[in-house]
Amino acid sequence: MNPQFQLFPEQASATAVHLDHLTLYLLGVAAFFSTLIFALIFVFAVKYRRRSAHERVGEIGHALPLEIAWSVIPFGLMMIMFTWGASVFFEMSRPPDDAMNIYVVGKQWMWKTQHLEGQREINELHVPLGRPVRLTMTSEDVIHSFYMPAFRVKFDVVPGKYTTAWFNPTKPGKYHLFCAEYCGTLHSGMIGWIEVLEPAEYERWLAGGNAGESLASSGQKLFEYLACANCHRTDKPGRCPNLTGLFGSKVQLTTGETVTADEAYVRESILHPGAKIVAGYQDIMPTFQGQVTEEDLLQLIEYIKSLAKQPAQGATALGAIPPGLARRGTTLPPAAPAKNPKR
Ligand code: CUA
Repeated sequence: MNPQFQLFPEQASATAVHLDHLTLYLLGVAAFFSTLIFALIFVFAVKYRRRSAHERVGEIGHALPLEIAWSVIPFGLMMIMFTWGASVFFEMSRPPDDAMNIYVVGKQWMWKTQHLEGQREINELHVPLGRPVRLTMTSEDVIHSFYMPAFRVKFDVVPGKYTTAWFNPTKPGKYHLFCAEYCGTLHSGMIGWIEVLEPAEYERWLAGGNAGESLASSGQKLFEYLACANCHRTDKPGRCPNLTGLFGSKVQLTTGETVTADEAYVRESILHPGAKIVAGYQDIMPTFQGQVTEEDLLQLIEYIKSLAKQPAQGATALGAIPPGLARRGTTLPPAAPAKNPKR
C-alpha cells in the first residue's frame, strides 16, 4: 500500500491499540446500522409501495418482540460504548505513579522540552522505550495543542496553567509531533519529532551532549539569585513559609481553606503571591510576574519539589539536600510524602 496513504497512524503505545479498538467498534456499529437502515428503506419502499389508487392500508398491530429487540439491543450496544469509552478515557487521563516527568513549553512557533536531568530540546523529544512519560505542559503565549498521533496523545497547551498528558512508548522509532491548534502564521511549522530509544541508548543519549545541570539545581540557583531564600528561610522561622516538605502537602490558608501544594499552586504563588496566603503569614511577597519565564518557573517548581523528598531518599540526585541548605546546617523536618498532584 502507498505509505503516504494511511487510514490510521502507526500504533506506538498501548493506549493507541486500546483507542483504535474502540474506534473500530464505534465505526463498525455505525456502519452496520447505517447499512441496515438504508437497505430496509430500499426494500420496504419497493415491497410496500402503493400498487393502485384504491389501495387502503389495513389495521396495523403491535409486534412486541420486535419492539423489545430494537430497544434492548441498541441500549446494550450503547452501554458497551459508554463503559469501554470511560475505561479508555480513565486510562488516558491517569498517568502511572512511576512515570518520568518531562516539561513542555509551547511558544509561537516551537516546542521546548526539558528533562529533569537538565537536557533541553527544541521541536524534539527523546524518550526511553517502555517507560511511561508524563508531560507537564504550558504555553508562553497562546493556546497550542501537543499532538503525537502515533501515541494517540493530543492535549491543549494553555498559557497560565499546567496541563498533563502521558504515554507509554512500546515501539522504538521516530514519530511526528504536531501543533493541533491554530496559533498564528507559522502554526503549520510548529512540528517536530518524538524519538523513542532503547533504554541503553537513551542512557547514552542522556549522558552525552548538552546535559548541563538538573532542573532542580538550576532552580536552586535561581531561588538564590532572586533572593527568595531571604524570606523563605529553612534555618529559622522567616517572614515567609519554609518550603521544605511543602510540595504535595496540604496548605492551610488564611481563608480557612486547604489546598494541595501542586505545580499550579507553586506557579500561582510566584506570579500572584496575594492569591493564596498561608495561614499565619502576611501578604508581603512581591510578584515575580515578568521577571521569570515559564522555563524558570518549571525550574523553581522542580527545586521546591526536590525539597519535599524525604531525607532518607536523599541519595537520588533530586532528593539530595541542596548544598546551599546543608551549609547552613539545616535539619530537615519530617517531610510530607511527595504525592502526585491530582490531574
Ligand atoms: Cu502552536 Cu498551532
